[in-house]
Amino acid sequence: MSTNIAFIGFGGVGQALARLLKERKSSLSSNYGFESKIVAVTDVMKGSIYHPEGLDVDQLLHVVEETGKVEDYPQTPGLIRGWDSFETIKKSNADVIVEVTFTDVETGQPAIDHIRSAFENKKSVVTTNKGPVALAYNALAKLAEENGVFWGFEGTVMSGTPALRMPVTTLAGNEITEIKGILNGTTNYILTEMEKGKSYEEALEKAQSLGYAEADPTSDVEGYDARYKTAILANYLMGAPLDANEIYCEGITEMTMDKVKDSVDNDKKWKLLSRITRQEDGTVTASVQPELVDVDDPLAGVTGATNAILYECDLSGPILLTGAGAGLTETGYSLLIDIIHFHRQSALTKIEGG
Ligand code: HSE
Repeated sequence: MSTNIAFIGFGGVGQALARLLKERKSSLSSNYGFESKIVAVTDVMKGSIYHPEGLDVDQLLHVVEETGKVEDYPQTPGLIRGWDSFETIKKSNADVIVEVTFTDVETGQPAIDHIRSAFENKKSVVTTNKGPVALAYNALAKLAEENGVFWGFEGTVMSGTPALRMPVTTLAGNEITEIKGILNGTTNYILTEMEKGKSYEEALEKAQSLGYAEADPTSDVEGYDARYKTAILANYLMGAPLDANEIYCEGITEMTMDKVKDSVDNDKKWKLLSRITRQEDGTVTASVQPELVDVDDPLAGVTGATNAILYECDLSGPILLTGAGAGLTETGYSLLIDIIHFHRQSALTKIEGG
């Protein structure tokens, strides 16, 4: 059976996923028995289209590239235009909603409302928006469970590097006692460049020109982006109901060339570290702040925009995962990971249910 997919939001990440679904069509079918159709796209800037039999993905990507408007997709019998995101969620035949809207990370909106509506309408969701997971994980996870649907958000931490799923699948059975992470590429890039002698301002400008920074880099340099990712890890991997706003957070805006030079002279490196620790009484504490690490610490070797997480596990010992933390293809790929897991889970439910 084919999986019907609807996109809510169709920016660079959504388009990257559509491209991957097209380019990997035959390997997804032969390796996982996965077949899919894109049935709807709705975007506040680009308009919206729905076809229950599926859209032609080549046409869709071509139209967006040429005119920037999905609503310029050619008229075909059965095509409906103009449904908003909630109509698409409620009335379309989609099984999975890809929620990749431009969402305000401080409120999690409109993504939270879209996800809630999808679950209430028995539709699964995959998203790369951090706000819903960092601010409303428990309520939304409960709603997904009550409605028997799937929620994937792998890309919210470290894009297509499997920071969330790897510990719960591959490292299953371990207890994670501490997580230390470099979860923001912009700040790690700035600190690395400052070690080479660049000023904070020069390094930030370069990070922006390379596309690492958020539209407003305040969220990167003040540590807020890392704080949201820290909240997601604490909730999902450590079972701690921490709200992002409760996590101590200090960014790198006070970092000077002198401080960086001093650290290098003393065989140390400044890193903007996310730290989540299970204390002896079972409670979990979390923080985001610049910390000095020894040059021989594995996290010291993580340079440039690369992200990394060190999971302290009681059975396997420390496990280090490094990789990209951003990028259109990488983030589009994180959605593909989630969709493949949705497919495997649905297939398993069918077998188990007879
Ligand atoms: N601006 C973020 C970073 C991108 O620099 O890591 C992904 O959240």
